[in-house]
Amino acid sequence: MKKIIVANWKMNPSTATEARRLFETVKKKARNLKKAEVVIAPPFVYLPFFTSSSTLKLGAQDVFFKDSLAGGGAYTGEVSPSMLKDLGVSYVLVGHSERRENLGETDELIHKKLQAAVARGLKAILCVGEKERTKDAFPPVVRDELKKALKGIPRRLYARTIIAYEPIWAISTHSGGRSDTPQDFFEMSIFIRRTILDIWGKSAALRIPILYGGSVNSRNARSFLEVKGIGGLLVGRASLKPEEFLKILDETKSI
Ligand code: PGA
Repeated sequence: MKKIIVANWKMNPSTATEARRLFETVKKKARNLKKAEVVIAPPFVYLPFFTSSSTLKLGAQDVFFKDSLAGGGAYTGEVSPSMLKDLGVSYVLVGHSERRENLGETDELIHKKLQAAVARGLKAILCVGEKERTKDAFPPVVRDELKKALKGIPRRLYARTIIAYEPIWAISTHSGGRSDTPQDFFEMSIFIRRTILDIWGKSAALRIPILYGGSVNSRNARSFLEVKGIGGLLVGRASLKPEEFLKILDETKSI
């Protein structure tokens, strides 16, 4: 299985010119990668400038939980799953900790967004992770976030669901660049699979891709990519620096 490498640009870069430049650089590199599915998730406003290809997919950083197809689109400021599909978007981030924290997104809202996204044929990348590293190796919040987001979603839709484990304390803006360790991520990924087993059963638990995110950079990318069963990486800050991000992509060549 190809490793999914997601560039989460967050609210960057500040101009369309820079966004185009960055996109083109990554697109060129992605052409030569056989073992990676590269996904760029820019701010909504830049999506129409970009076209996806077989080696580079488009992602969105958010989505609304209702669709506009039925003509019920009276939701000022929101963007529907069909609008994203129409622009060639295939992935969408759901439940990123920055949206949970800064915008008060609740587990219920995240569940609805995920449901709407997968129902429309988008692949949802559900972000989960604890605020602080405690002695508890498997923080109950991770299990909770998974259960609340996924419960009630038909089992067959697991094929459109990806989990990103992003411990909040390891995200670069909180940690100054200190990531989790590959070993701890490995154990956490097993815990996540066990939780999925309870919700969706064995095939989902075995097959669902689990990504690591939180201060991934060109120096630590390989150690994470070598973790058994890892589905890929979710990269924030380092995805905005072309040199850094291209090096991360290169690491997929030798795994
Ligand atoms: P980071 O961000 O790579 O800058 O830690 C990851 C994320 O928040 O998705």
